[in-house]
Amino acid sequence: MAVYLWLNYFVIKGLDIEMTVRPRQIIPSGSFVVSGTESLVLDAYLGSCVGVTLWDSETGVGGLHHLLLPEPIEKSRPWQPEKFASTGLPLFIQALCEKGAHTSRLQATLAGGGLIGPVSQLDLDLDIGGRTAEIACNLLEKEGISILKAEIGGYFSCRMSLDLSSGDTEITPMIYPEISHNSPVPVCPTPEQIRETIQTIRPIPQIALKLLRMIHNDMNSLEDVAKEVRQDQVISAKVIQLCNSALFSRKMNTDSIDRALVLMGEKRFLMLVLSAAVDSGIFGYSRGYSLCKGGLYNHSLGMAVACESLAKRTSNRVSPAVAYTAGLLHDIGKVVLDQYVAEAIPFFYRRILEEGKDLITSEKACFDTTHAETGCTLARLWGLPDVLYDPIACHHEPEKAEEYPELTHLVFFSDLILSRFTMGQELERMDARRLAESLDVLGFSRNQLPALIDTVSVPL
Ligand SMILES: [Fe+2]
Ligand SMILES: [Fe+2]
Repeated sequence: MAVYLWLNYFVIKGLDIEMTVRPRQIIPSGSFVVSGTESLVLDAYLGSCVGVTLWDSETGVGGLHHLLLPEPIEKSRPWQPEKFASTGLPLFIQALCEKGAHTSRLQATLAGGGLIGPVSQLDLDLDIGGRTAEIACNLLEKEGISILKAEIGGYFSCRMSLDLSSGDTEITPMIYPEISHNSPVPVCPTPEQIRETIQTIRPIPQIALKLLRMIHNDMNSLEDVAKEVRQDQVISAKVIQLCNSALFSRKMNTDSIDRALVLMGEKRFLMLVLSAAVDSGIFGYSRGYSLCKGGLYNHSLGMAVACESLAKRTSNRVSPAVAYTAGLLHDIGKVVLDQYVAEAIPFFYRRILEEGKDLITSEKACFDTTHAETGCTLARLWGLPDVLYDPIACHHEPEKAEEYPELTHLVFFSDLILSRFTMGQELERMDARRLAESLDVLGFSRNQLPALIDTVSVPL
């Protein structure tokens, strides 16, 4: 979904320090990239996911594949085959061969597939990472591709990197240098400071509010919206970008708002414009809750699509359009607390990644409030539709939802599953012990769980 250029490479010559721009590209889960730019370093952040690098030293052709799941439930025509080991890895190998690599010369490295805690019996039973790695290894063996190194399993997230100029692969555990067991509990903001921050947050753009009302009330004055979008260059560009993204389309090539409207259909178009308006207006640049540039927005967008897909399986218990907006806005409270989390990164990452505490109790310990509470305050201040209050306020503790328990459990379930695939980049640890209750509330059986995980897991 995104390419990030990081200024992170320094060459020291004598007393002079030259700064070199070293391009890096993050490979989102469920996708792969093959070589093309020699000086590029490919990165994948892996929790339960499995990363596979392949490199042909003779031609210098290589790539990295970020695998999300072992195999599709619907084996005949899977959507997004790249995200599964059984269907994606052959495509990855084929793409490398088309660039000039040969299977007899390719060498592989595997990483990831961890059990990212707190680990429940369910995690052990499903063993998603272990099964993904097993299928990947079998496929590589069948192709005659040798495996140089496989660091699979364990209880930590890691970063896997492939330097396309040399073929070197690096696997780095996600333990951050600034995390120290002696780091003091940070100086916490006072309730007054948090209240002031809520008041000074840039309000939700008017167009987003208008769209929310249209989506929630099934009103249609689409021409109005399309006209407004055409006049706003930033939102226009973002709508077209989203329309062409893997998350929303299957390689549609859209270059205008009118074509996006035709291709996506009216309702989907409204959601796309809402997503674009929210991006430029609210999420901005987060520094605390996500270690990736744009991570907070990507998480919200992924959640929107995941919640909508899951809602379609609930036999009308939850409206897909409402689920989409709830997913998109469930974490808006993070916008308020992000600056304070950024100042206390060692405290949060130590508690959550190393000690396995969940996010809500860690926030309570530091701020005496949570992003769920501040999010609900913000939602009321902005006049968001009432149906969003429960999922925003209770998406980590869905049993507390009073008016919309099904929608709230749906957001919790999607967040829980997505957080298992992105752990290490995002601070969003959920408590898996609530999973059984969520399945009951949504009317799903335990046997449906693998299919539901498949539904919810979107390329982030
Ligand atoms: Fe959250
Ligand atoms: Fe979330």
